[in-house]
Amino acid sequence: MYFSKITATGAYVPESVITNDDLSKIVDTNDEWIVSRSGIRNRHFAVAEDENTSDIAAKACKMIIERSNISPEEIDLLIVATVSADYSTPSTACLVQAKVGAKNAIAFDIGAACSGFIFGLSIANKYIQAGTVKNVVVIGAEVLSKYLDFTDRGTCVLFGDGAAGVLLQRSQKRGIIAEEIGSDGSKGHALTGGDTPVKNAFSKCDGKANRSLKMDGRAIFDFATRQVPKSVESLLKKSETDRDTIDFVIAHQANSRIVQIISKKLKIPMEKFYLNMYEYGNTSSASIPIALNEMMEKGLIKEDSLGLLTGFGAGLTWGSMLIRF
Ligand code: ACO
Repeated sequence: MYFSKITATGAYVPESVITNDDLSKIVDTNDEWIVSRSGIRNRHFAVAEDENTSDIAAKACKMIIERSNISPEEIDLLIVATVSADYSTPSTACLVQAKVGAKNAIAFDIGAACSGFIFGLSIANKYIQAGTVKNVVVIGAEVLSKYLDFTDRGTCVLFGDGAAGVLLQRSQKRGIIAEEIGSDGSKGHALTGGDTPVKNAFSKCDGKANRSLKMDGRAIFDFATRQVPKSVESLLKKSETDRDTIDFVIAHQANSRIVQIISKKLKIPMEKFYLNMYEYGNTSSASIPIALNEMMEKGLIKEDSLGLLTGFGAGLTWGSMLIRF
């Protein structure tokens, strides 16, 4: 039986910091509303031409490699979770593969929005368990700013850009302990983006492409505060894990109020939840690995720490994972 363990992390966020006050100059909003409703103060936006999703993902990937015991050629599998790819094709993962020189990797993208990093880890773990690969890089990367409608104050204040990921390696020790993952496509219209209707030389459709993110914020709020506790309870039960043994929790950094409700419902104290949405906003698939990398850099994760990662988002999708570090 093969096990998988996270052995390195890395992250990159664009330098340009956009504050709530910056946004209030272009849309009818204010710092007090944004902070009290979401916990977000700043977000980083890609502004340069060479800061598309594959560029920032490649920078995070290079950091992961530098901090690891492997060369780019030794990466067997490279998964990028994203909903804001540079192109429909080639995949962002293939672009990253070329940028970092991971020439022996199988490379592909997955789209599971804010749960994407957990979905990616799940796929990577199964490849390792099957014995087919040893070294997998899983990255969550988003340039969501290119999908924002800066006239819609209900969405444009919430999101940010960034990339981060991990190296997952074959190990003697069980790192990924258990997972609980799911989807509910019937509620997918609560959060959409990159709408591309049928249009060709023979179609009678006159639908216009609309790239902007559109969200029913209340529906997503209700979904997250209902589904995440349910998913984590099921994970704890099936892995026979006592919640008190969890050292830290990283929930998708969408909204601090959502995290507070999750904490209360799960009876896991807020002190165990790492929060950094105040600096990055909601970076979708990048939010969990950005937080994980930050905790690593601050020395907050010790050898043998037990972490709970939990994501939720468009699709609708959700995923929770227990990981021993
Ligand atoms: N600034 C000022 N006022 C605003 C803003 C803004 N940026 N946005 C909305 N408002 C106004 C609304 O127009 C409304 O005004 P009205 O009462 O005069 O009509 C009022 O504030 C209340 O609006 P609501 O939408 O009811 O505010 P709510 O308390 O629900 O908060 C929010 C909105 C923050 C979006 C909340 O619903 C939420 O966090 N939902 C979850 C969103 C989320 O987590 N999404 C991401 C998860 S999935 C993924 O990450 C891809």
